[in-house]
Amino acid sequence: MKKNYIILSAGILAGAIVLMSSSSGRNDDRTGAPSSNGNCSNCHSGGTQGTTINIGVTEKGTVVPVSSYQAGKTYTVAIVITASGLSPAKGFQSTILDATNSKTGTTANTTGGSRIISANNRDIAVQSSASLTGIWSYEWTAPVNPTGTVTVYAAGIAANGNFGDNGDMGATTSKALTLDASTGVRSNMASKFQVYPNPCGDKLQISGNVSSISVIDLAGRVQEVALTKQVIDTKNLMPGFYFLKWHDGQTSGTVKFQKI
Ligand code: HEC
Repeated sequence: MKKNYIILSAGILAGAIVLMSSSSGRNDDRTGAPSSNGNCSNCHSGGTQGTTINIGVTEKGTVVPVSSYQAGKTYTVAIVITASGLSPAKGFQSTILDATNSKTGTTANTTGGSRIISANNRDIAVQSSASLTGIWSYEWTAPVNPTGTVTVYAAGIAANGNFGDNGDMGATTSKALTLDASTGVRSNMASKFQVYPNPCGDKLQISGNVSSISVIDLAGRVQEVALTKQVIDTKNLMPGFYFLKWHDGQTSGTVKFQKI
């Protein structure tokens, strides 16, 4: 009875190892990200390949690296594994999460012999077969309504190609991308903001909803003016040129106007 039990467990274990086969890409989350199942080094070890893994992010269609992203834009995320020692078999996993460690944006168009799997409620890019070069990429489209900084996580190995998990060396890395809100809403407001009439008399109308304004003369002195709804009372300003600085809570700008 005891013997049968041991044979049965050995059978289950062997089956589990086959199901969890890694060379063609794992189907669980081993990205090394928070709340993942860990990373490749949970099994792969004992090697001296000197593995390093790097994440490079560029705006799709360009080669200029970015460290921030803009709402709705598509980026190319490159994962590169290098080894100082011999390694004919490399593999990786990578995912992009927001500050709550949840999937954010959409992931597609993998290259280098990789694919996207869905595991742990995340989209994970993973190699489809062990790679000699260790270079893959995928595209990530930022959410239209982003919440802030996102982090690209990646884990990988440089393996010795013995179809086992021994004699291999793993590595993990991550890269934060801050939210660049300088375009979209911001530039919209900046390019739309207008004052009229310009030159003005006793009243100057502004075009946008701003949270604060200040009027500064050419000598840099701040002038006392009252803003009511979208109308600035310019009655007390001496004739001449002024700068109007505005802030809408998100962005700011300056326009020049003349009082006559
Ligand atoms: C739960 C244990 C386990 C984890 C975690 C694991 N692997 Fe594996 N991996 C194995 C086993 C067992 C093999 C040998 C059987 C096979 O090829 O599938 C293997 C083989 C491989 C091979 C072929 C290695 C060689 O020398 O031929 C690659 C490549 C690979 N895994 C990539 C990965 C990557 C990348 C990760 C992390 C994202 C990972 N594995 C995580 C167990 C694991």
